[in-house]
Amino acid sequence: AAKNGLDGWLRYAPLPCSHQCHSKLPSNIVTLNQTTRSPVYVAGSELQKGLKEIYASHVQIHHGQHGQCKDFSAVIVGTVAQYRKTCGPADEVPHLDEDGFWLNTKGSHVRILGQNEKGTLYGTYEYLSMLAQGNFSDVAYSTNPSALIRWVNQWDNMDGSIERGYGGPSIFFRGEKIVDDLARVIQYARLLASVRINAVVVNNVNANATLLAPENIQCLGRIADVFRPYGVQIGISLNFASPKTFGGLNIFDPLDTTVIKWWSNITNQIYQRVPDMAGYLIKADSEGQPGPQTYNRTLADAANLFAKAVKPYGGIVMYRSFVYDHNLNQSNWKADRANAAVDFFKHLDGKFNDNVVVQIKYGPIDFQVREPASPLFANLLNTSMAIELQVTQEYLGQQSHLVYLAPLWRDILDFDMRVDHKPSSVRDIVTAKRFNRKLGGSAAVVNVGTNTTWLGSHLAMSNLYAYGRLAWNPTDDPEDMLRDWIRLTFDLDRNLLDTITRMSMDSRPAYENYSGNLGIQTLTDILYTHYGPNPASQDNNGWGQWTRADRTTIGMDRTVKNGTDFSGQYPPEVAAMYESNETTPENLLLWFHHVDYTHRLHSGKTVIQHFYDAHYQGAETAQGFLDQWESLQGKIDHERYEHIRQRLEYQAGHSIVWRDTINNFYHNLSGIADKAKRVGNH
Ligand code: GCU
Repeated sequence: AAKNGLDGWLRYAPLPCSHQCHSKLPSNIVTLNQTTRSPVYVAGSELQKGLKEIYASHVQIHHGQHGQCKDFSAVIVGTVAQYRKTCGPADEVPHLDEDGFWLNTKGSHVRILGQNEKGTLYGTYEYLSMLAQGNFSDVAYSTNPSALIRWVNQWDNMDGSIERGYGGPSIFFRGEKIVDDLARVIQYARLLASVRINAVVVNNVNANATLLAPENIQCLGRIADVFRPYGVQIGISLNFASPKTFGGLNIFDPLDTTVIKWWSNITNQIYQRVPDMAGYLIKADSEGQPGPQTYNRTLADAANLFAKAVKPYGGIVMYRSFVYDHNLNQSNWKADRANAAVDFFKHLDGKFNDNVVVQIKYGPIDFQVREPASPLFANLLNTSMAIELQVTQEYLGQQSHLVYLAPLWRDILDFDMRVDHKPSSVRDIVTAKRFNRKLGGSAAVVNVGTNTTWLGSHLAMSNLYAYGRLAWNPTDDPEDMLRDWIRLTFDLDRNLLDTITRMSMDSRPAYENYSGNLGIQTLTDILYTHYGPNPASQDNNGWGQWTRADRTTIGMDRTVKNGTDFSGQYPPEVAAMYESNETTPENLLLWFHHVDYTHRLHSGKTVIQHFYDAHYQGAETAQGFLDQWESLQGKIDHERYEHIRQRLEYQAGHSIVWRDTINNFYHNLSGIADKAKRVGNH
């Protein structure tokens, strides 16, 4: 069958079967659950498909009976409990946590045993990933998830459009209804399951209440039915005012008994059709969305309202911390949007029910190319938390620029908050280890659409792949993940592997250099598109995304001694580091400090000269991507080669637009000449 972008990294491209492969390939698949649509059944079918497509090996599936467990050339696929029941003792299998699995290719047969069925499916994809990379090594290991919440959020609207979506219209909705043909949803489910994502919130955080109409609830059930065999649960975003705008009540006060009853009734209806719904996602009192503040109630009152409704069903509530005043006044030196999350949430610590998880964007502003980790992670010691990442490259080139994001995410996850002077990495906090919570994890905004590239660009899929891997294991190495992804998506060719790895690893530093460096933020247009350079838009807007650039100085003073007090939201050791411009890492200098353009960096360069140079350097790196890609012509099928080539050609040009717009803007503003005489008229 012709391969296209829809398979992503599950391409199962044909490989020659060497001698080693012949002796290692199983000739039977034994699955320990024969119920169609069970994840174990799916695992068997997926394995059969993979073996056929990769090695042209046609393998029978047997539905486990005792005798087959001893078959010398079988792969046995099931849960540990199923294995014990059908095959006998499983003493060698180490303890597994929920969703974990054990993979053993040593010995006479291959065993893939999950703690549950989902885990079995994950293990099967792991084995397939080895086969698809021509890897026949003998392995025996178990792996467990770092956290139970490994979600993605789609920002799909009922009319089929997608907020900040760059890969075409929704695969779920069209014309205010759920689409009839869910074929794309099956393919999405495969991709998500293969990287161990266990839930997807299908509609936009800016939610439309009509999703709750009875016929739509029925159709949500159809979506859930498609995802279920892949171990992916669904969740939905709610509009807080629904009881009034949709339910016919005249109120949406979270403490009002008619409102409480209304929500519990709706929740019951949903669980009747979707008994395993993962839960709700709430954006309230944020960017004009309704919320509890209308009735002078707390954000915890609101979260707990939903928490109680889903509790009997084991559901959870992801309550977003993205609450801030978007009509800030810049003439107030102390005003700072970055302060908002801690201001709104800290005093509520401990007041959230135990099935509420506060979902926190990685940085205090909004998915910028460089932000410090949100201080809220260090301020909720008695509340479950999850980190919100964005696979969608909203401010980061909207999939028209190559920007591999795993290094950015690792910067945040690895950051040590030093809570109580003890190691407190963001990763240990959100995976619930640091404060011993029951719940924790991550959610990523992933706005896939009907485009055959899913995200709008084939190369952008490395971000979805890496997100899943990091959600499972936040210490996974960005370059290792990338190499696996390249081999699975393109080819095993050494040169191709090195080239795409290099381009990808250089891409975030390049984008940071030609968009906004030294922590000044991304410098995109922030009024509407969040795309392309518009440094002028970064001041005097109500959104509070400011640079405070004038003729002589630039940067936000977020210190306690003279600024917005933001640095004081961190635990003492971190606060002290950010308080002084000597100890603040230079890539965040202008995030925390307001300095002269002539302020000298450790390199000896002034801030303004660094700006000029970095923009030239970043644009030059991006222009190099095109040549590197073109060196791969003939090694990649024409469709994907050409699609990516066009994007990189565009990026090469647009990086120059970025470079010149930003450099000219600050040159005009400061009047300071570029030492290398590139910027302005000479
Ligand atoms: C950003 C984005 C919006 C989105 C919001 C959110 O501001 O531009 O489109 O609704 O984040 O995360 O809620």
